[in-house]
Amino acid sequence: MGNARSALQRNSAKGKRETEPTKAMSASSGSVPGSAYSGAKATQSRIIGGREFHTEEKSVYVLAKDDEEKDRLHEQHFLIKETFGNLLQPQILEPIFDNSIDVYDVGCGPGSWILDMATEYPHVQFFGTDIADTFPESIYPKNCHFSLGNVLEVNPFGKTFDFIQMRYFAVALRENEWDDAFVSMYNQLKPGGYFQSLEPSILMNTSNTDLNEIISAFTKLLAAKGQDYDIGPKIVGKMKAAGFEVIHENKLESPIGWGNKISTRGAEDMRMLYLSIAPFLASLLNIDVEECTAKINRAVDSMGPTKTTVNLWSFLARKPLEAPASSSAV
Ligand SMILES: C[S@@+](CC[C@H](N)C(=O)[O-])C[C@H]1O[C@@H](n2cnc3c(N)ncnc32)[C@H](O)[C@@H]1O
Repeated sequence: MGNARSALQRNSAKGKRETEPTKAMSASSGSVPGSAYSGAKATQSRIIGGREFHTEEKSVYVLAKDDEEKDRLHEQHFLIKETFGNLLQPQILEPIFDNSIDVYDVGCGPGSWILDMATEYPHVQFFGTDIADTFPESIYPKNCHFSLGNVLEVNPFGKTFDFIQMRYFAVALRENEWDDAFVSMYNQLKPGGYFQSLEPSILMNTSNTDLNEIISAFTKLLAAKGQDYDIGPKIVGKMKAAGFEVIHENKLESPIGWGNKISTRGAEDMRMLYLSIAPFLASLLNIDVEECTAKINRAVDSMGPTKTTVNLWSFLARKPLEAPASSSAV
């Protein structure tokens, strides 16, 4: 956390709000001995406010892709694990993870879920893709396989899967891409295969003025990119339209910043996230980055005193056993 805040403070002190030149990532691809697949290629990035963002034209994802963001996502993974008490929805009807199945984590980020799962289930093959080269390229267990890939496209491994996870896409898809993403996942599942999804709400239940202003700017940023900032309540309908049988859905209203370990870490995670996009939020709030940084810090610090909560949506669905191989719903 200290790093994210101090980096922004350094940048805002310099009044750095302009877009800096595009930077090409160092290329490192190729196969890793003993590891079945490494399809990573260097992806382009641009630097804004000292943070590195993807330039993939096909994606409207708004968050950074640099090491600070990878750290945040790893931290967020363990926060999710502690909040839900599991990495797999417990409603899975059969012990499929006892078998040598193929599992896909789409939009895997730095691969936190895969790396955690792969050590617990060494006989399962885990495949992860992301539009950005955020996943590990050289050091990971042998049953992990990473590649560039897009949720809207067929996976690069040429496989169908027994289990697919699509987690934390809330700021990644255009409103009209959600239906296509679920159809894409449905088509890449084997009949009887499971689909797990987890999405946070961008909105928060709060009376805090600074926080409401930050959230309002965030929703404007997403809306300008054609995104739906309140996708959670619509997910079940979209899954059903794609052909899924929904086994479980849950909305968890989670306290944030209230003082216990998980809620304090949740608030710090949000601080890192908001600070990473401070230049965009500042511009929408019509204030400078320094002022925006102070507003973000005040907003996060008052989450506890104002008893702020955030909604987390979790789902487990299944492709029916008798399902046609491919859905063309939507
Ligand atoms: C908030 S992160 C979540 C990472 C990971 N799923 C997790 O839960 O830890 C969202 C990830 O989705 C990726 N992403 C965005 N748009 C995507 C797309 N169209 N296809 C695949 N990945 C995408 C981003 O690059 C980012 O790594």
